[in-house]
Amino acid sequence: MQLFGIDIGGTGIKGAPVALDRGELAADRCRIDTPHPATPDSVAGVVAQIVDHFSSSDDSTDTADAAAPERTAPVGCTFPAVVKDGVALTAANVDDAWLGTDIASVFANACGRPFVVLNDADAAGIAEMRFGAGRGLTGVVAVITLGTGIGSALFVDGILVPNTELGHLEMDGEDAELQAAAKVREKEDLSWKKWAKRVDTYIEELDRLVWPDRIIIGGGVSKHADKFLPRIHTRAEVVPATLHNEAGIVGAALAAADWQASRQS
Ligand code: BGC
Repeated sequence: MQLFGIDIGGTGIKGAPVALDRGELAADRCRIDTPHPATPDSVAGVVAQIVDHFSSSDDSTDTADAAAPERTAPVGCTFPAVVKDGVALTAANVDDAWLGTDIASVFANACGRPFVVLNDADAAGIAEMRFGAGRGLTGVVAVITLGTGIGSALFVDGILVPNTELGHLEMDGEDAELQAAAKVREKEDLSWKKWAKRVDTYIEELDRLVWPDRIIIGGGVSKHADKFLPRIHTRAEVVPATLHNEAGIVGAALAAADWQASRQS
């Protein structure tokens, strides 16, 4: 079975149908730059474009109808903020207009399909736990995504504790994500070594407060794990994510499938 997964990020919005049994994209993903300003209306327009891309009948590639989930099926979608019951409750890296917005309803109206919306790091974590570096892991597992911000997903014996927001831990008196997110490395033109030192300090603080058994480092930067992971020294085992850029899309679709299953039972 396939469902759509859409991943909303600070620079790009990406989506694809996901083969749920394999945790893999069922067609090449479609990516469109995040509009600026990224208001509810402009982002909803892009989300609708992505869903339409996979539903248009004149597309003769493998992205055509063959891969498109039916219209009544829920679309899973990530959002880079605290999300409760489809509503955005924070806006650290997104337009303030999102605060208190029912994201799921805005997208459902734009696309004519039901939407299940969850925090982006939670979605990536769900995908890693089911199909990636966290497969089969018990105990306390923290999935940390290093991107525009720092996201976190915390699992206890495989069960997600949603919206943990551990990227905003205080580090040297300042919000950790402002010092150690992957975007900061690019913005401040830091060497991998210098940036890794900051990530190391962050992980140490995380360990001091949460004591996870394992830490999975995700986000696009996990592709370059060899450049910084060897410089992270902590008590917990630290490993790179394996689904990289696709984790959000896959996790969003898995969340939609769980929602659908809970309604059918
Ligand atoms: C947000 C989180 C999000 C993370 C990664 C943070 O600024 O507060 O909700 O998961 O960025 O996008």
